[in-house]
Amino acid sequence: MSPLFEILYKSESVSPNVVSVELENILKISRLNNSKRNITGMLMYFRGEFIQILEGDEDQVSKVFSTVIKNDPRHSNVRLIAEGPIAHRSFSDWSMGFVGDEAIQSRVSVSTSALMMDLLSQEAKSSPQTPGVTHFVKTYNQMRRFPIR
Ligand SMILES: Cc1cc2nc3c(=O)[nH]c(=O)nc-3n(C[C@H](O)[C@H](O)[C@H](O)COP(=O)(O)O)c2cc1C
Repeated sequence: MSPLFEILYKSESVSPNVVSVELENILKISRLNNSKRNITGMLMYFRGEFIQILEGDEDQVSKVFSTVIKNDPRHSNVRLIAEGPIAHRSFSDWSMGFVGDEAIQSRVSVSTSALMMDLLSQEAKSSPQTPGVTHFVKTYNQMRRFPIR
């Protein structure tokens, strides 16, 4: 077993508005595959952008990110925000939690939500030790009460 590791990245969906059936497919296969690989995490989709955090054994997480997810034609411009070793999982009971437009918009005003993806990734980048994700987790803890599972 390799050490626990996390990866946070951002990407753009290829279709401008990912329809729910596409998201359902992504989530379904992610949950299935992640359970087998003991990977946990959360996927957010908002206004054409994805932010995803993956956590698990380093071998598994790195492999699935760089060989599978990165090459998925349903998104492009995949940018790593943060990666690094972690002491414990933050999403241990989610093979892939999901927060989408509706869940986000119901919690924040429209103007706030428009900036959210950018702010989130900038802030994650500027927190060097806490592999980005601490902030991601903190901010979205408020929203995770309403994940679409
Ligand atoms: C934004 C996004 C996030 C994804 N996240 C995961 C994931 O967490 N785990 C996973 O196995 N596949 C994920 N996928 C899907 C993979 O890219 C790929 O389609 C899938 O793993 C292929 O599975 P299969 O070989 O069993 O058909 C994601 C795809 C997209 C577009």
